[in-house]
Amino acid sequence: LGSGPLAGRHAIVTSGPTIEPIDPVRYISNRSSGRQGHAIAAALAELGAEVTLISGPVALADPAGCRVVRVESAMQMLNAARSALPADIAVCTAAVADWSVVNRSTEKRKKKIGEAPPVIELGPNPDILATLSRAETARPRLVIGFAAETQALIENARDKRQRKGCDWIVANDVSEGSESFGGESNTVYLIDETGVEDWPRMSKLEIARRLARRIATVFAS
Ligand code: C5P
Repeated sequence: LGSGPLAGRHAIVTSGPTIEPIDPVRYISNRSSGRQGHAIAAALAELGAEVTLISGPVALADPAGCRVVRVESAMQMLNAARSALPADIAVCTAAVADWSVVNRSTEKRKKKIGEAPPVIELGPNPDILATLSRAETARPRLVIGFAAETQALIENARDKRQRKGCDWIVANDVSEGSESFGGESNTVYLIDETGVEDWPRMSKLEIARRLARRIATVFAS
């Protein structure tokens, strides 16, 4: 068993984007880099936690000391998260695609001269954070979500905390000029049951370490 304040605790961290196939060669995705999620996984491992990092496709090295499960779609990410239970902590950092392609083709869609382009039909993806937060059995003691907002940051994040049923929300401002998406640093607020903590602008690594230390305080008693 490792040492540190989170020794003996299991943490699930989701990170990166998901990709939703259109056909065997094409997909829909988003610009998530996975930097914040991977940093959180590493920081929790540094404090002694046993970490299962469930990651969508990213261009990052596996963080030290974590078990990494690679997935592509939201459905695969949900299944991996469920299989990783039980856990004491779940941190959902992944930018899960909101929709998947309902009329996904098992063959490559052919471009036919003179024919109208195909219509991509979207359906909702499962919400991994809400599923873990509302799990009737094996709900992790501490479930943390992220909220990227461009306006009414705190209000929307508080709302999200209620709606998803998670314990904490880390809210970050992704409005134009904030340079949060794909960048090295972030400005975040931590929202828990007692209120809002305003954190100074810092690197994603520092945010990860501060969050990991705060998580450790919950398990200190
Ligand atoms: O609803 P929204 O995408 O803004 O919520 C963001 C939070 O919910 C993040 O913590 C994200 O990882 C999580 N989420 C999820 N599954 C989804 C959508 C979002 O786990 N399908």
